[in-house]
Amino acid sequence: MGRLITINYNNKPLYNISIEHDFNKLPAVLEGVGSKERKLCIVTDSSVGAIYLDTVMDIARGCAKDVIPFIFEAGEKSKNLGTIEDLYEKLIIAHFDRNDILVALGGGVTGDMAGYAAATYLRGIRVVQIPSSLVAMVDSSIGGKTGVDFKGYKNMVGAFHQPSAVYMNVSMLSTLTDAQYYSGFGEVAKHGFIRDDAYSSYIAKNLEGIRRRSPLILEEIVAGSCNIKRAVVENDPEEKGERAILNFGHTLGHAIEKLMDFTMLHGECVSAGMAAAAYISMKRGMINENGYNSICRTLKDLNLPVCVNGLNAEDILSVSKSDKKMDAGKIKFILLNGTGNAVICNDVTDSEMLEALDTILK
Ligand code: GLY
Repeated sequence: MGRLITINYNNKPLYNISIEHDFNKLPAVLEGVGSKERKLCIVTDSSVGAIYLDTVMDIARGCAKDVIPFIFEAGEKSKNLGTIEDLYEKLIIAHFDRNDILVALGGGVTGDMAGYAAATYLRGIRVVQIPSSLVAMVDSSIGGKTGVDFKGYKNMVGAFHQPSAVYMNVSMLSTLTDAQYYSGFGEVAKHGFIRDDAYSSYIAKNLEGIRRRSPLILEEIVAGSCNIKRAVVENDPEEKGERAILNFGHTLGHAIEKLMDFTMLHGECVSAGMAAAAYISMKRGMINENGYNSICRTLKDLNLPVCVNGLNAEDILSVSKSDKKMDAGKIKFILLNGTGNAVICNDVTDSEMLEALDTILK
């Protein structure tokens, strides 16, 4: 049991992702990035910290000079520059220098914020990611995107800053609520839709194991998603081109997330966004009706919504245009040219988006 996936940049190994079922190999991973002579700051939120902080602090104390915690209030509302300032202050007071290390223990909010603080504190220090949610394991902890929300606009301020190591303990998925757990399957399903029909079939065949959170099936799914994302980010680490396909469903999804004031989870909003993007792909004849129906069925089977309540299409369209996925004033929209094959389109019209939004609004 257990996997090791290496992320390469310019054909050289940059960092490893360890996929494990416990924390037994965490000391070796921390020491592997040179923790012994360094200070570590474990960044976590109030929910994840309540379950895992003591365990991770104990492990870290055995392999570092000093370990301090930084705990912020759980939730997307904390993902802002104010929390980053509090973290900088904590690091300054504890005399963290350029060789000291942040450890992000938590979901996407924690990983993105710790990564951004690491990218900017003293012009850049190292960060080790210990993702606790499925979204963070299969998406946000890998690939080096870091950042915070700004005035309600998702991830509007950020930097690329690659982690030094990523340690995934899939047993942490057992403590997620059902909503958090299935939200992660939004990103999992996305990886199949954009790149890999065989991965989509694996998910469809293993719904029962997914429902009972089988550790072996989760290991397979996490490894499968990491490998799909690895192949994309290795080719295009800073989203100059192909990496944008990972934003399938996100253009409209992020707008829905903002308009719902973050009361819907990320994967749920992306799910509705993917259903709309798949609809546009079908209307353009890029996927057939079976392909579209199968995408919607997969999302429903994973307890994900393909419809949203209480919003209107014009508002979603307008907020989408303030998202960062723009290119010279045009929305960089991701469509499917066949299932398992995403493409970037700069010519999706407002009326195509409005028609697609009508199909997902109740
Ligand atoms: N979450 C999309 C990306 O990492 O590019």
